[in-house]
Amino acid sequence: MNPPNSKPLISRRRIQKRTAELGIEISVYYQDKPLLVTAICNGALLFAADLIRNITVPMQFDTLAVESYIGEQSSGEIRFRSQPKLDPSGKHLLLLDDIIDTGLTISKIIEYYQKFKPLSIKTCALLNKPSRRQGTVQADWLGFDIPDKFVVGYGLDCNEYLRNIPYIGTL
Ligand code: IMP
Ligand code: MG
Repeated sequence: MNPPNSKPLISRRRIQKRTAELGIEISVYYQDKPLLVTAICNGALLFAADLIRNITVPMQFDTLAVESYIGEQSSGEIRFRSQPKLDPSGKHLLLLDDIIDTGLTISKIIEYYQKFKPLSIKTCALLNKPSRRQGTVQADWLGFDIPDKFVVGYGLDCNEYLRNIPYIGTL
């Protein structure tokens, strides 16, 4: 699969700047709160790696692997491919995702984590496609709003390819 041949939709430099800003906001918010940050994988891995290096308060880190898309189509269901390693109960849980598109994936993940009884659940997504939303779910922190286009890179894939592109591009 070839990398995008148009110019980046969001450059590496803009992503770096935005993750630094988000890191500061999140650090201020979670000061003196027991914080567990969980990256939804694989898509949020690169975002999480950059963002948590900008979080300056004590925190634990975990991952949860889910699958929700096949190619460029939402499969309409999500599959859990792993279980949390760290127990979220008694902690403030911050979920990191790559993109909120219809919002169905993050809604189901929030529902899943409620049974662990964390002190709170909040979400931070790098990208947001507001025009595609079904339901009312909204991220508490957002990197960028983008138009309704299929994007790849910086962790986001097309058929598992192109996650390694260091910027966000369109196909
Ligand atoms: P949602 O359930 O429709 O919100 O979809 C969320 C998931 O679908 C994300 O975590 C991504 O893995 C995937 N996804 C949605 N839009 C895109 C895209 O434009 N490119 C790559 N993956 C996407
Ligand atoms: Mg994903």
